[in-house]
Amino acid sequence: MKSAIVTGSGAGIGESISKKLSENGYRVGMLDLNEDNVVNASKKIENSTPLFGDVTKEDSISRAFEKFGETPDLLVNNAGLVLFNPLEEHSIADFSKSLNINLLGSFITSRILSEGMIKRGSGSIINMSSINGINPGPGTGAYPAAKAGIISMTQQMAIEWGKFGLRINCISPGFIDAGMSKPIYADPKVRKLRGGAVPSGRLGEADDIANAVLFLDSENASYVNGHNLVVDGGVSNSVIAQLPRE
Ligand SMILES: NC(=O)c1ccc[n+]([C@@H]2O[C@H](COP(=O)([O-])OP(=O)(O)OC[C@H]3O[C@@H](n4cnc5c(N)ncnc54)[C@H](O)[C@@H]3O)[C@@H](O)[C@H]2O)c1
Repeated sequence: MKSAIVTGSGAGIGESISKKLSENGYRVGMLDLNEDNVVNASKKIENSTPLFGDVTKEDSISRAFEKFGETPDLLVNNAGLVLFNPLEEHSIADFSKSLNINLLGSFITSRILSEGMIKRGSGSIINMSSINGINPGPGTGAYPAAKAGIISMTQQMAIEWGKFGLRINCISPGFIDAGMSKPIYADPKVRKLRGGAVPSGRLGEADDIANAVLFLDSENASYVNGHNLVVDGGVSNSVIAQLPRE
């Protein structure tokens, strides 16, 4: 049985990734800072273990991984957050918090778990970026910088850890109707405008991202390393198509 640890899996996309992995025969460690959420989410998912942990704190992550009891085949660095307000009003503390959870947190968990993966000579890590890592969105503080850093860190991990038998890739979701974006798309006007702007004609679902995780961890992707898989229905390429000509 393959095993995986998914961070930020007490809600949203991480919960869907955990469910998809479980349905496909994985034993899943569901790690989150929100203990109540992850315990409740894990109750609904077969072969899953709730793990309490803060990705910004080495000790807390080491303890959670110990509780899981084995080095998993797959680590999904999905925990993240976005703090909204204009840069000129953005506090240094908020900028730093967002950078730490999104970028540093993905390194901390990877650094700790890669030790066992390197010893074993196999493992897969999937980092969660965003189309904001390619096209910054206004009012999102450090989020785009952190997500761009995740794409670069993924490439760095691949060039340094490929020789140990590891594959490290990342996913950049687009407009996903789940998790942190759910409240935004609760407004029917925003749903229509945003969904209509996507070449594939709809908002994305958490399951679209879970399917990408399954692909990147599969044998079908065995020669894919250091890649950023954009899962956005084509929206990040459609800037020119949407500019008025008159
Ligand atoms: N929803 C979207 O539209 C969208 C789009 C692009 C990228 N993403 C990325 O997908 C990932 C999941 O986002 P989501 O939409 O499901 O958001 P979400 O807010 O529903 O889930 C994030 C989870 O991370 C957990 N978390 C936060 N800080 C943590 C910490 N320090 N340690 C451990 N866990 C922590 C939260 O408790 C929460 O359960 C994030 O990395 C996000 O940036 C989301």
